[in-house]
Amino acid sequence: MSSLLVDNIGELVTNVAGTGDGSPLGLRRDAALLVEEGRIAWIGPARYAPAADRRIDAEGAAALPGFVDSHAHLVFAGDRAAEFAARMAGQPYTGGGIRTTVGATRAASDDTLRATVRRLVGETMRQGTTTIEIKSGYGLTVADEARSLRIAAEVSDETTFLGAHVVPAEYADRPDDYVGLVCGPMLAAAAPYARWVDVFCERGAFDADHARAILTVGQAAGLGVRLHANQLGPGPGVRLGVELGAASVDHCTHLDDADVAALAGSTAADGSGTTTVATLLPGAEFSTRSPYPDARRLLDAGVTVALATDCNPGSSYTSSMPFCVALAVREMRMTPAEAVWAATAGGARALRRTDVGVLRPGARADLTILDAPSHLHLAYRPGVPLIRQVLHNGVPQCRS
Ligand code: NIG
Ligand code: FE
Repeated sequence: MSSLLVDNIGELVTNVAGTGDGSPLGLRRDAALLVEEGRIAWIGPARYAPAADRRIDAEGAAALPGFVDSHAHLVFAGDRAAEFAARMAGQPYTGGGIRTTVGATRAASDDTLRATVRRLVGETMRQGTTTIEIKSGYGLTVADEARSLRIAAEVSDETTFLGAHVVPAEYADRPDDYVGLVCGPMLAAAAPYARWVDVFCERGAFDADHARAILTVGQAAGLGVRLHANQLGPGPGVRLGVELGAASVDHCTHLDDADVAALAGSTAADGSGTTTVATLLPGAEFSTRSPYPDARRLLDAGVTVALATDCNPGSSYTSSMPFCVALAVREMRMTPAEAVWAATAGGARALRRTDVGVLRPGARADLTILDAPSHLHLAYRPGVPLIRQVLHNGVPQCRS
């Protein structure tokens, strides 16, 4: 059994409370970490580091768990750069462009879609992401949703069936029929490749009754629930998500007091936060020039918050978790520590994972070494490529 020691880590973010640093990050100074069989076997002071077959010298830099990007739409063809330019010239974002991407995705070959997914996963990895959730939602036929998920499942265990992204043009006059298709044959074809079911619950997409029907049958088929809620305006999505025990409600841009109270009330029995996580996607507000969600209000109410990219060709074509961390700190009144926690441990909570987003013995050896002495630099040096090295399952991925 070959072992790897990551040595001389100046600042290690563990996300394990109790190191006495007073932040949620569980910081350790001058640390080392031993990897065996893709898992962390030991963490401790560098001066007590055990011998190992191989060694990576972090040279005093900071290291943290790989980012957990719990919300991304990577299976698509084409882009919508012109739509972005029109928005920056004053057009509002309505979600209407989703149908443009649906047309391009249906027309694309498996290999074209596969190449895009792999290119984007590589892009995220070079920016420190080691776990990524990938949704379908640009196929919207039985065959196209199933193939989107089949291709996504080749690169991630965290795959989400989003047949209810929008009602496709051919069902425009028959939304109930489309919901019937999603709940029946489409779910049956998608479920073997999916871990989660999601609905875009929003005016112009799916209302609460449709969302409830789809999420409930998805749950009965063994899928976990998550949903797009309260992105473009107020609505029932967040409360529906809490009622159904969703792992996460995503966007949460337009919340009223009852929404915040519902989330805050979903407290976990073990006191570890809320069972329904609020996943905030500041790349979407950036790219649609919209007001950002109020992270401070959620955190102050005790809601567990995650950050994710929402990487998609329409509303948020960024694959960068460091960019989202910087936005959350600058624009959403999160502290750097809260934002880094939300992008790692928070994302893991949103995916109900305990083996990622945290560095402790037994956890996956998913680790990012920065070209910086502290996690603070992720927000302090926005737009700067600070990812020096990424380990995924203990295997070095890239050195930029
Ligand atoms: O999360 N809101 C719905 N879905 C995506 C946008 C998809 C698109 O515009 O293509 C989102 O922002
Ligand atoms: Fe999304």
